[in-house]
Amino acid sequence: MKRLLSGVKPSGRPHIGNYLGAMRQFVTLAKTHESFVFVADYHALNTVHDAALMRANTIGVVLDYLAIGIDPAATTIFKQSDLSEHTELCWIFNTLTTMPYLMRAHAFKDAEAKNKEINVGTFDYPMLMAADILLYEPDIVPVGADQKQHVEFARDTAEKFNRTYGDTFKLPAAYIPADVATVPGVDGQKMSKSYGNTIPLFAEDADIRKLCMSIVTDSKGAGEPKDPATCNVFALHRHFSAGDLPELERRYRAGEIGYKESKELLADNLIAFIRPLRERRAALERDERYLYRVLAEGAERARAVSGPKMAEVRRKIGVLPHAAAVV
Ligand code: TRP
Repeated sequence: MKRLLSGVKPSGRPHIGNYLGAMRQFVTLAKTHESFVFVADYHALNTVHDAALMRANTIGVVLDYLAIGIDPAATTIFKQSDLSEHTELCWIFNTLTTMPYLMRAHAFKDAEAKNKEINVGTFDYPMLMAADILLYEPDIVPVGADQKQHVEFARDTAEKFNRTYGDTFKLPAAYIPADVATVPGVDGQKMSKSYGNTIPLFAEDADIRKLCMSIVTDSKGAGEPKDPATCNVFALHRHFSAGDLPELERRYRAGEIGYKESKELLADNLIAFIRPLRERRAALERDERYLYRVLAEGAERARAVSGPKMAEVRRKIGVLPHAAAVV
């Protein structure tokens, strides 16, 4: 089986755009790949400096993974901070990479353009991510299009290490499916936390209904023909109303449905989809011991891969063996 690795930074609650764009793939690809998905908690530490929030967000990602149907028996779920190999390898990469190279990162340039004071962790984000990836030698790294450059940085870093110390790391490739949905938010722009236009993946029924009714449309009356291709409500129907789609499309064109009715139908279908996930998440949340058991087993399985790789790296760079192993 080919190997998959990906991570999610625990910096807030996911929305249906995150789900359709990325998270859902972890479930489907796990059927054909040996999968490792982890919580990138040390990446989140760049921006979250509140311990209670760090804890809540981190366990939150584990809950999200399990609630959407990732099976921890088949997929290795772990957190980055349990594997010191990640930060250790990041340091070694720091000694090979250069400042001008890291200054080319989009995320760094954006932050600089906004005149923000950037912490060193943020500047170094691509090297920690390179370590996350290269330790596991994955065949595919499924990520959103915004992470493509980061995977290229990992690739460059692997090449640089291999050139310096001999063939060690397999070159990774991003996996960005061509048909990945661009999901509109309630205002019609791309759904994104920064636009404040999201429908949270685990929203309560009443909130789902309210958000659906607030989706922006043109002002055509109930009896007027409408174009499904330009309707924000219809764009969401495409993902959540599969069975109703042909009839809905006909009624749009024939002027036999108003936006209000279309939104109500969307809310019904979204609720039917979200409610079971939300209930599963709530049930899991009450069983913290189980969540830690998942993470403990995941860390052990992850270490079986990253441990030997790290030992190989240490040999190649010439740090002495762990002294306790020699005496
Ligand atoms: N940077 C990724 C994001 O923002 C999260 C991430 C961290 C990641 N390490 C990774 C993704 C390794 C894939 C592989 O979403």
